[in-house]
Amino acid sequence: MAADFLAQVPARVRVVEVGPRDGLQNEAALVPTEDKVRFVEMLAESGLSDIEVTSFVSPKRVPQLADAEEVFARLTPRPGVRYSALVPNAKGLERALAAGVRAIALFTAASETFNQRNIGMTIAESLEGFRALLPTARAHGLWVRAYVSTAFVCPYEGQIAPEQVVAVVQELVAMGVDEVSIGDTIGHATPNAVARLTEALRPVLPLERTAYHFHDTRGTALANVLMALQYGVAILDSAAGGAGGCPFAPGAAGNLATEDLLYLLHGMGIETGVSLEQVVAASRFLETRLGHPLPGKYLQGAKRI
Ligand code: COA
Ligand code: ZN
Repeated sequence: MAADFLAQVPARVRVVEVGPRDGLQNEAALVPTEDKVRFVEMLAESGLSDIEVTSFVSPKRVPQLADAEEVFARLTPRPGVRYSALVPNAKGLERALAAGVRAIALFTAASETFNQRNIGMTIAESLEGFRALLPTARAHGLWVRAYVSTAFVCPYEGQIAPEQVVAVVQELVAMGVDEVSIGDTIGHATPNAVARLTEALRPVLPLERTAYHFHDTRGTALANVLMALQYGVAILDSAAGGAGGCPFAPGAAGNLATEDLLYLLHGMGIETGVSLEQVVAASRFLETRLGHPLPGKYLQGAKRI
């Protein structure tokens, strides 16, 4: 990279595909299990090394993902791919272990109100729950990611101070989670906020365990990615086609589209090991199953050619 301000940009980025979970959880029409499995398999074929497959949450709260066990049962794993699942509590862990899951993602938030609406617990209660279940996860050799949602702006509380995020991250790091993904759940962050938070997190969360999870509600996701890259962040979440959003976060639009992220990264000479065109193929398949187009910009442009 020529310019000084790009000196820290990593040579390689690990893209964490969250479409099958974060993308689908917000879709009204139930996608048949076999189509979810096909979607995950197409994503794995594209070269993605990390795929968040589903959630072991309450099926009453997220009916779309009620078939989590079935999805894992039917999935033919590809060597070298980490298939993870969202786990909210001990019951979720029990279900995930029974389904043969090897990587889990715990989730809490930086905003008290959002956490209450999302999982019905205070932040402290959710952290207590994680602390209690981690020994079991460790004993089974699971890889553990943790999300901190609403790390920039909360739909109920507004602006979230970096110190609030740092406090939660510190506890997660002390518990020994493998990686923390910092979520802009409703997609309101701008690059200056990313810079501020990244600087605040630096002393408590090693760069190699720092992931960002941007939504593109207001078109700032890629600008935020660029800022994170300038700080050397090398783990980024996205969803094929830009599907998704959180059903418990009013106003949350789609995730940053994997295709748009790949286009930016590859254009900057950053390796990902992922075939952009194969991700497009997976998104096109999903569109046929959802019955509506997905919002990703590269995807929409690619269709017209
Ligand atoms: N999987 C399946 N069922 C679960 C469960 C899990 N992980 N955890 C709890 N339940 C069931 C309980 O068995 C109970 O069932 P019953 O009503 O048939 O007796 C019911 O859910 C209520 O359980 P309770 O402990 O009172 O918890 P809750 O209703 O407050 O639910 C969560 C807690 C976290 C499971 C729930 O809020 C949830 O699933 N939220 C979804 C969050 C989400 O996916 N958000 C989007 C991603 S950011
Ligand atoms: Zn998301």
